Amino acid sequence: MSAKKESLGKTVGIVVAVCLVCSIVVSGAAVGLRELQQTNAKLDKQTNILVAAGLYETGMSNDTIEAKFEEFVVPRYVDLDSGEFTEAPSPDYDMYKAAKVTETSTPVTNSNVGFQRRPNVASVYLVRDEAGKVTRVVLPVHGSGLWDLMYGFLAVDADGKTVKELIYYQQKETPGLGGEVQNPAWQEKWDGKKLYENGEVAIKVKKNANPDNPHSVDALSGATLTSNGVQNTIQYWVGEQGFGPFLKKQAWRS
Ligand SMILES: Cc1cc2nc3c(=O)[nH]c(=O)nc-3n(C[C@H](O)[C@H](O)[C@H](O)COP(=O)(O)O)c2cc1C
Repeated sequence: MSAKKESLGKTVGIVVAVCLVCSIVVSGAAVGLRELQQTNAKLDKQTNILVAAGLYETGMSNDTIEAKFEEFVVPRYVDLDSGEFTEAPSPDYDMYKAAKVTETSTPVTNSNVGFQRRPNVASVYLVRDEAGKVTRVVLPVHGSGLWDLMYGFLAVDADGKTVKELIYYQQKETPGLGGEVQNPAWQEKWDGKKLYENGEVAIKVKKNANPDNPHSVDALSGATLTSNGVQNTIQYWVGEQGFGPFLKKQAWRS
């Protein structure tokens, strides 16, 4: 006699049960890990800002990162049109989300940057020394590379004109080519460069730049397209539509 006792109903029942168990496990893990993911994302952001602030040291523990951020970095919000500080639009304000909403953003007129709208209110991070004096201002910047948008932080001296750091923390450029935007050796080339000349944005990323020229940064070799993306990004964000009015006003001095 056949030992087969399967029926369609049983098979479907088992499939449904397995699916149910799997979905409970997956959604349980997603919910359980959400807090950890949020903590890690916050820590990642703080680390990147500390790097731009010149305060990060290799091997720092998570607690030290948090403590240093708390002590030396002051997150603020800027109305990009006026260049003045403003209140956080909401407790969990995200400028990248705000840029996607018509009411909280403005169309970009320069088509080179790879995004269509910029937020009306942007985050900035004031870096203070032990005496509480602002020494740097860290500005979030983003714009297209060859393959996708690249995200970074530009740290400007308290004079509002001199670059201290440019770091990229998220990009999808080709490793070894455009991906070299994340190479510290290339990022260092930005230190001390001057953003403006006679009030106009003058910083240029170009091939074989003279390292002594205060307005030019050597382009990445074999990655002119990514370099052009960096050029367009910085030009936009320190310009009139970006942080230009804020950098001119130097609101952090008042
Ligand atoms: C597979 C592949 C990946 C590439 N990735 C990049 C890249 O990430 N960034 C970039 O600027 N150019 C990239 N290029 C090269 C560009 O097509 C172009 O040749 C280069 O930007 C020119 O730079 P150069 O004038 O310094 O030689 C890539 C080319 C190939 C074939």
